[in-house]
Amino acid sequence: MKVFPPFRLDTVNQCLWRLGDTGEEERVMLTPKAFAVLAYLVEHAGRLVMHDELLEAVWAGCVVEPQAVRKYVLCARSALGDCPKKSRFIETVAKRGYRFIAPVSKPITPNPVVSGRGAHGTLVGREGALEELHQGWQRASSGERQIVFITGEPGIGKTALVEEFRRQVAVAEKCIRIAHGQCAEGYGTKEAYGPMLDALGRLSHGPQAEAIVQVLSTEAPTWLAQLPGLLTREHREMLQREILGATRERMLREIGEALESIAAETTLLLVLEDLQWVDESTVNLISALARRRTAAKLMLLATCCCPPAPEPPSHALKALIPDLLVRRLCRKIDLTPLSEADVEEYLGDLSPASPPPQGLSALVHRHAEGNPLFMIAALEHMGKRHLLTRANGRWQLHVPLEQIEFEVPDNLRHMIEAQLERLSAQEQSALELASIAGASFFPSVISSAADIDAPGLEKLYEQLSRRHHIVRWADTQSLPDGSVTERYEFVHALYRQVLYDRQSPGRRARLHRQIGERLEAMHAQRMEKVVPELAYHFERAAD
Ligand SMILES: Nc1ncnc2c1ncn2[C@@H]1O[C@H](COP(=O)(O)OP(=O)(O)OP(=O)(O)O)[C@@H](O)[C@H]1O
Ligand SMILES: [Mg+2]
Repeated sequence: MKVFPPFRLDTVNQCLWRLGDTGEEERVMLTPKAFAVLAYLVEHAGRLVMHDELLEAVWAGCVVEPQAVRKYVLCARSALGDCPKKSRFIETVAKRGYRFIAPVSKPITPNPVVSGRGAHGTLVGREGALEELHQGWQRASSGERQIVFITGEPGIGKTALVEEFRRQVAVAEKCIRIAHGQCAEGYGTKEAYGPMLDALGRLSHGPQAEAIVQVLSTEAPTWLAQLPGLLTREHREMLQREILGATRERMLREIGEALESIAAETTLLLVLEDLQWVDESTVNLISALARRRTAAKLMLLATCCCPPAPEPPSHALKALIPDLLVRRLCRKIDLTPLSEADVEEYLGDLSPASPPPQGLSALVHRHAEGNPLFMIAALEHMGKRHLLTRANGRWQLHVPLEQIEFEVPDNLRHMIEAQLERLSAQEQSALELASIAGASFFPSVISSAADIDAPGLEKLYEQLSRRHHIVRWADTQSLPDGSVTERYEFVHALYRQVLYDRQSPGRRARLHRQIGERLEAMHAQRMEKVVPELAYHFERAAD
């Protein structure tokens, strides 16, 4: 445990906490890699940590692009609210590395994470999912291997669920092994077995490193050779000569056997995060692990932001999950949005001294549409604007609820914009057009209003809905002219808002007018059905 006020880094439970103005500790979310980067810098506080050293320490010999270090340092910095130009915590030493500059001490208070619920970061609405995971854990502990996929939209709480489960099993049982591998986001060729190598690398640097390296050297030399941080140069060269020409099949067999040895006595929880970015070799590995019949105290917990894209490499995963499900070789937990009662519980946990103001949970729930990431962003937004604050364990509302207007908070806007920037220019433009049309929209109306090739645009929306979590297919409807058309909708209002805001007011007004005119022409016979919609478009067009 390390303290650098107002933060406390809990290296056992792998969490970062921040002491709020009200004296309550709040959990600061960090991805496992960003956490590992921060933990390493804090552990070597005051000393310059070179890029290569950080790569070797955190990625344990895996091949990663140097930008990865920068990206995760950026995440750690943003979690600490640090600014590179005037850093208080992480200083950049140009072209060389980073130095953690804040004074670090040991804590005086005991660790409240282990004591459980109540602090910021309380998980609500996931009792059923946790129960299912614990049942799986029981089966795994008795030697029946478990493969569990946790799926759901971005921000729905997949990582939070895994972390809470991981915390609970770590607290309940002294003797377990936990390995954690992250799929790397990126669009180039993926490192084969990247997340598994990541998990093994960490396991081999953990408290039972020696035993793990021993198992790998006897059962999985092809894998050990890829974790060079663990070997002397001579040993590695010898190993590489020995395994020259090793096939993929051999690697699969070796890792299957090695994991069984690792999970022979002590139950192993293997977490693979963000399979939407998985490489094809890892999909084969999951498939092979699920199909092996040998007993193993192994639970593989994999998160995936659905839907995986229908083209390589995700298509393999898309095919694998239903196949394993049919054969009862895996389980899938689909996380759904939180209910209003869950939001009420979340708010109530944060204000033990009195219940949340009447109507607050309904408002937050409606705005966030049950998505926990958006819920937290909405609360932060209100806090920053001083509309809603929390002091002495109670919420204080400073304006009537009906006057609260939500904007997209900056951090969420950046997150969504980064998501959008990965799309092609054509896709972005199609989504921008849709954001003008409405929360739900007809491609055929947009194409004729904006004078764009209709089949091409329809195909774009269809592909977008299958590959990305921004719009989804809603239903098929008949239009007044007798044509039948698909209707799509935005998965979340925030996506629409960001897309809408990034267009110039002139373009928005012009498109509103064009869409309004198109709707008017289409519904000329029965205008009353679309009066509110027409009013909305013509008003926005300043017509
Ligand atoms: N059930 C919950 N109760 C309270 N807070 C939650 C819950 N689920 C998630 N959160 C919080 O919401 C935020 C987003 O959750 P998380 O990162 O787990 O989502 P995710 O599904 O893993 O997202 P991504 O698809 O981007 O990986 C985090 O701050 C997390 O602590
Ligand atoms: Mg996640």
